[in-house]
Amino acid sequence: MASSSCFSSARLLLLAACCGVLLAMAGHAYGHPPSNGPAALSSTFYDASCPGAYNIVRRVIQDARVSDPRLPASLIRLHFHDCFVQGCDASLLLDDDLPAIQSEKNVLGNKNSARGFPVVDSIKGALEKACPGVVSCADILALAAEISVDLAGGPRWSVLLGRRDGTTTNVEGAKNLPSPFDPLNMLQEKFRNFNLDDTDLVALQGAHTFGRVQCQFTRENCTARQPQGTLENLDQVTPNVFDNKYYGNLFSGRAQLESDQVMLSDPAAAVTTAPIVHRFAGNQQDFFSNFAASMIKMGNISPLIGRDGEIRKNCRRINNKGY
Ligand code: HEM
Ligand SMILES: *[C@@H]1O[C@H](CO)[C@@H](O)[C@H](O)[C@H]1NC(C)=O
Repeated sequence: MASSSCFSSARLLLLAACCGVLLAMAGHAYGHPPSNGPAALSSTFYDASCPGAYNIVRRVIQDARVSDPRLPASLIRLHFHDCFVQGCDASLLLDDDLPAIQSEKNVLGNKNSARGFPVVDSIKGALEKACPGVVSCADILALAAEISVDLAGGPRWSVLLGRRDGTTTNVEGAKNLPSPFDPLNMLQEKFRNFNLDDTDLVALQGAHTFGRVQCQFTRENCTARQPQGTLENLDQVTPNVFDNKYYGNLFSGRAQLESDQVMLSDPAAAVTTAPIVHRFAGNQQDFFSNFAASMIKMGNISPLIGRDGEIRKNCRRINNKGY
């Protein structure tokens, strides 16, 4: 907003000072022509400014997953929980800094659940060393999601980049993240709010093909004497592989989450999500191509681009706090 009013006043008044500011700002907007307003995300965004970005992110994840095989699953979930709360702006990564910043990490869907943050810090550290101030934390999550799926045997896609990092959190939005206890129509509504349709919902929940779940969230709700935080595999057939076995689990009634099972078993599913579950269960390639397309759609939720937001130096903090 501030920049577009600067454009019009520059045109009208030919203010030299304003033009100087414009030039300075244009220099920061890598790959985005400043005269045409916000450009879209692009897969080549860092090609000139940080050509090693993808490989740096990949190397850190590869190193870290040796001691933490669950990590790829945890990382893709961070991108989901970021994008579903005021867009893919890395708001999820901000730590508490009260009263200004109330972290999204402490809401029900994230607390003692979202994980992988120290690895995001390592990725950011490596990127800051290679190309200081260039790669956003929001883009780190998008890259990490794709790399994680690839490392687990899933599909590849061309990650769109150029997101910038927000300077606010949205705790109310985080409380509204999809819950494992939401009925199908609520899940559909929460996805539709971001322009994600039934195919996106079914494809993206396919990410439960890997990773873990605390038994307190499962349909079984733990067994006798099992502590609530006991970890189980989300996909009990191929727990660490990104494949389409998850959909088969729904047919044998072995989905861990009620929010998984409803896509097949809800009375309304027969004419909405269930046929898509059938398709993906029967054709892994169909699942893979739809998953990739849906990840790109999810990654496009309200990114900050151009001169909005900032490139955080530390993913846990906004820049202008003087730390
Ligand atoms: C439809 C709405 C969704 C619901 C209700 C949901 C719910 C959950 C729950 C309850 C857990 C277990 C958390 C815990 O035990 O601490 C979980 C884990 C996970 N979710 Fe989802 N999820 C949804 C969609 C997604 C999407 C869209 C993705 C990614 C594209 C995703 C990826 C994952 C992964 C990979 C894990 C395992 C994480 C780990 O092991 O650290 N989920 N989800
Ligand atoms: C799971 O079981 C615990 C202990 O019995 C109970 O307190 C909790 O409300 C149950 N959760 C659900 C979602 O039913």
